[in-house]
Amino acid sequence: MFKLPELPYAPDALEPVISARTMGYHHGKHHAKYVDNLNDLLKAAGETPASLEEVVKAAAGDPAKKKLFNNAAQTYNHTFFWTCMTGAKMAPSGDLAAAIDRDFGGLAGLREAFVTESLNHFASGWGWLAAEGDKLVVLSTHDADDLLPREGLTPLLTCDVWEHAYYLDHQNDRKAFLEAWFDNLVNWEFAAAQYDAARGKGEAWRHPGPVAG
Ligand code: FE2
Repeated sequence: MFKLPELPYAPDALEPVISARTMGYHHGKHHAKYVDNLNDLLKAAGETPASLEEVVKAAAGDPAKKKLFNNAAQTYNHTFFWTCMTGAKMAPSGDLAAAIDRDFGGLAGLREAFVTESLNHFASGWGWLAAEGDKLVVLSTHDADDLLPREGLTPLLTCDVWEHAYYLDHQNDRKAFLEAWFDNLVNWEFAAAQYDAARGKGEAWRHPGPVAG
């Protein structure tokens, strides 16, 4: 079975952009429910996977496994989302900063591309910064979809644009949430490590594996 991972910081660490109240619902209710559903579905199917990544990839695109995919991918996406944020304000540096300059003309250009893509994404989903080899790309995915089924894309960052991610703190103003998120909460050290992994330097982030019980 999979466990709901602990947050890597205190629930109020991302305030005021993401309040402790939002975190309580988002991590403690939404994410927890996806994990519970995932475990129930795996148990009912008699499956004991070696990793969450394996579950997501195997279920992707299979209409008979849509429910399993949704809950597995949402479990993965949320843990990735918590991991790519920090309450300590950072800026990109090194190779990643150089790639941002090359592919987006600087951090302001990346911010514009990321916010625009995520703002224009219709309804629920996820905004992503990813690397395809050494090239940076911004894209969005619908509902539970993520980048795991797409060979060659390594996620560097994601922002949850389901309304449950921002409605308590920003109501319907997704743009304000995205801009504040990009300016204040991005863990650029994590993104840089993912960018290294995309270019064969070190291991990419993996979701914690299953535990006994
Ligand atoms: Fe969410």
